[in-house]
Amino acid sequence: MLAYSLAYLLSNENRCSKLRFHEGNLSLDLSRTLVNEHDLAQLVDLLSRRLVDQRLVDMHTGQLVNTSEKRPVLHTLLRGTIDDSSSEYLVNEKLFINEQHQKMIDFVNKVHSGVILTPNGKRVSSVINIGIGGSDLGPAMVFEALSSNYSNLVEIRYLSNIDIHDFNKATKDLDPTATMVVVASKTFTTFETLLNLNRVVSWLSQGSDSRYVKDQLVAVTSAQDLALHFGIKAENIFQFKNYVGGRFSLASPIGMSIALGYGVQVFDELLEGMAQGDSFSLSGNHESNATMQFALNLYHHRTVLGMQTRAVLPYTSALGRFPAYLQQLIMESLGKSVTHSGEVTDECGIMVFGEPGTNAQHSFMQYLHQSPQIVPVDFIVILDANPKSAHGLLVNAIAQANALAIGKSATDLNLEGVPEDLIPHQVMQGNRPSSVIAIKDLSAVSIGQLIAFYENVVSILGILWGINAYDQWGVELGKEMSANLINSINARNLDNLDESTKWILQKYLDAN
Ligand code: F6P
Repeated sequence: MLAYSLAYLLSNENRCSKLRFHEGNLSLDLSRTLVNEHDLAQLVDLLSRRLVDQRLVDMHTGQLVNTSEKRPVLHTLLRGTIDDSSSEYLVNEKLFINEQHQKMIDFVNKVHSGVILTPNGKRVSSVINIGIGGSDLGPAMVFEALSSNYSNLVEIRYLSNIDIHDFNKATKDLDPTATMVVVASKTFTTFETLLNLNRVVSWLSQGSDSRYVKDQLVAVTSAQDLALHFGIKAENIFQFKNYVGGRFSLASPIGMSIALGYGVQVFDELLEGMAQGDSFSLSGNHESNATMQFALNLYHHRTVLGMQTRAVLPYTSALGRFPAYLQQLIMESLGKSVTHSGEVTDECGIMVFGEPGTNAQHSFMQYLHQSPQIVPVDFIVILDANPKSAHGLLVNAIAQANALAIGKSATDLNLEGVPEDLIPHQVMQGNRPSSVIAIKDLSAVSIGQLIAFYENVVSILGILWGINAYDQWGVELGKEMSANLINSINARNLDNLDESTKWILQKYLDAN
């Protein structure tokens, strides 16, 4: 398969310059990946053969591209990317989006200025965002990413898992009478979120008149009726519609915790960056478009070269949650094995894992350098970072990329005088592909561009593979099964369960 020599390909100036791309605050270098000029031409041709431009237009104009759920996919409308004047439907949806956005902005400004107080008459000093999956990962990732450049106006905590340790951590040292709770849930039915919500309501009741505790709650949801039914006031409910998938919902009021934490201007800058990222993905020719080229490169390594796994290594701790965020975005979107028409395919899906560098170097990088499996790597570096550590981070990322690409031969080791018996252990094959994504800085605009970049790459990959990147039926069965098992545990009745399930649940019941 590896008819590529990266050492050779990297010496070809013409090829390398063709594999460098720029989009706003992002630069992308694909020169260390396993593509030659012939592959490049074929891949670009694939964009036309798969009607990628037309399919993107279909998405942006509200066609039912989420075929299994018969829904449009309009998260890009949230950041105003699309020319919404093209249909009455889009005009109306944009009006709705703007209205909810404005409602959220006014609310957040009133919290910051003290016009909105807690029911105890205190200024809001902390916010707990309860949510999971797309209602947590995006906001929590961005909140951390921006933390070195922006100051908090209020303390923000994220609560997603139902483990009591998480609850204790999220509420630790907070004053329940000065805390506001954002319940972020598209469906408002998610088990974990509702369990945490009930726990938090009890915690809020300490020191407060329980009749008013629910006034401390804010809901972000597309199921307003359920939030109202729970007792959340209509003026505290911010909506988005079901044409925005959970993992694509950051630009909706789901991102409210970012606005509460850093102010509405920062949130709007994030949206501005996302809008720019969207327009980059649609502009220019295919040969020079970073988003298209990155999607094609991922397609090539996965489908043509058969590399199913990918590592994402941000060389900044500020992007510590980025791999987890990307895992949902990429794996929930592209982890499918049938096409739109239901035909089985085994060519799609990418398993993603990652950890900030340099930490990753001291844990799993050994596998990437010498295991029999080849795992392409995305190195994400920040150009304008903290000067004290920036050199070290950048240099380490590039050194790793070079070590993967060039490796070290037995001949070189021999010349260095390495003992014969150690040579096989120290040989590094090289030819291991990686990309470098260089971000100008950790500003809200740049982070917005990065998010939109990956979101659009996912949409393009969905089109190239002919799969629905917007449903997640696989998650549903597990939800159903856990609901049944909870009933069995509550009733302490394990009849009708298979032997393995009975064994572990019995052990749990014995221990409790
Ligand atoms: O279980 C997966 C999932 O449905 C994700 O797609 C979604 O982001 C998450 O659960 C949370 O869902 P909700 O926002 O409806 O609570």
